[in-house]
Amino acid sequence: MRSNDLAHVHSDKLFEQVYDYILERIRRGEWKAHEKLPSIRTLAAELHVHRLTVFKAYQMLKGNRAVYVKDKSGYYVQPGGSLPVETQHDPIVSAFVQESGLSEIHQVQAVYQFSKALLDPNLLPNHYFSEYVKKVFDMYPKVLGTYSTVQGDLELREALCRYFTDHYRFYLSADELLITSGAQEAIDLIARVLVKARDVVLLERPTYAPAIDVFRRQGARMIPVEIDRDGYPLDWVERLMQTYKPRLFYLNPTFHNPTGYTVPAEQRKRLVELAHQYQCLLIEDDPCPDIYFEQKPPLPFFAYDTAGYVIYIRSFSKYIAPGLSIAMVACRPSVMKYVVKAKALSDSGAPLLNQKIFLHYFFSERMQQHLAKLRTALAIRKEIMEDELSAAGWQWSSPTGGFNLWIRLPESVPVDTLLSKSMEQSVSFVPGSICDPLRSYQSWIRLSYSYLNEQQLREGLKRFVSLYRSLK
Ligand SMILES: Cc1ncc(COP(=O)(O)O)c(C=O)c1O
Repeated sequence: MRSNDLAHVHSDKLFEQVYDYILERIRRGEWKAHEKLPSIRTLAAELHVHRLTVFKAYQMLKGNRAVYVKDKSGYYVQPGGSLPVETQHDPIVSAFVQESGLSEIHQVQAVYQFSKALLDPNLLPNHYFSEYVKKVFDMYPKVLGTYSTVQGDLELREALCRYFTDHYRFYLSADELLITSGAQEAIDLIARVLVKARDVVLLERPTYAPAIDVFRRQGARMIPVEIDRDGYPLDWVERLMQTYKPRLFYLNPTFHNPTGYTVPAEQRKRLVELAHQYQCLLIEDDPCPDIYFEQKPPLPFFAYDTAGYVIYIRSFSKYIAPGLSIAMVACRPSVMKYVVKAKALSDSGAPLLNQKIFLHYFFSERMQQHLAKLRTALAIRKEIMEDELSAAGWQWSSPTGGFNLWIRLPESVPVDTLLSKSMEQSVSFVPGSICDPLRSYQSWIRLSYSYLNEQQLREGLKRFVSLYRSLK
């Protein structure tokens, strides 16, 4: 671990959770400018916390100019304060179309792409791809003339069931599996099926940015749950489940994007119990469990679930075959039947050719052995990034897997300015605020070490750090 470790920077202090909660309600317009906020006593009773906790949260909001105080009267919403503004919609577009911060950043062409949490294509066994493609056409000569079934190719689903039973103790049947075109589609389908306007959804803070956009589009009331290297504040999560009866909790507990944290096994077991007790579904998004640098991560939440409260999303696009865009959803039949219906409205099943190529490529011995090489290559790239940044005076907690460093910058340079100047110099990164349902984390950034080769990493980071210094 590094000396500038930030293991507890996402503190689980209760007053910070109350702070987030109040801020989210103001942001959603439930409490308007100059409106009086609930008294400390009322809020403490509502949230089952001590009055001092609410007092501290209000004081912090006051310090951040989100609320103001009138003597002997109470706390009021500060107009325009430091609060983020909801997206404005174009009046010409009749449907609900929404900005997607991350995809906009990805569309910018930059030589030094630290924004892409995706594998460098040179790290895949490209040389052998044509073998798999040829094999597929030899084995299934009509593959181009056929649709997949909506739920996905049966041969692939059966192979995945065997794989997950052997490696992860999942015990699934092919009916409990759906193939999607990437995990992003899976999140979208699940949100469409499960979330309607004003449903409460728990979301990690920070989290995978496009998931925030999806739940926002559904009109969900999002309540953030801080994640740190020890996982979640489970007492607080239980209180939220008790008080708000959330529909679901969307989580990315293994080499979390953007922080790299992994939720420990005991918490996984306990959270599954809580989900059952309070009937809150857990949506477990798991795009990179194989990319570990030290030990294997704990088993997914899904392996602890006997009552059907976990929906498991596994992407194979980030480091197996990005060009095929294959992911899967595993859940029990009572939910699966609706997810399949939603998929049928979206398309007639993931492309069959992609599924067949993926089947023969993923389960080949070559690919399984290749994973070990990938881990080594990415661990080296992570070390290079940490080495190049060590003199910059920034802070991060060294991840034990995944693709990203989640970095706190000194507050002297606004991240927006840094981003626009970086883009001019062909360097891209992800500003932390877009990973935050509350749109704060103003001095945080995500840098991915997975997409550039070792030389490009060094060059790009030198350029980035010197740009940063020139802006100080
Ligand atoms: C947590 C998380 N979920 C989902 C996705 C999207 O995965 P896919 O490329 O399979 O759509 C990503 C990709 O970055 C991710 O990090």
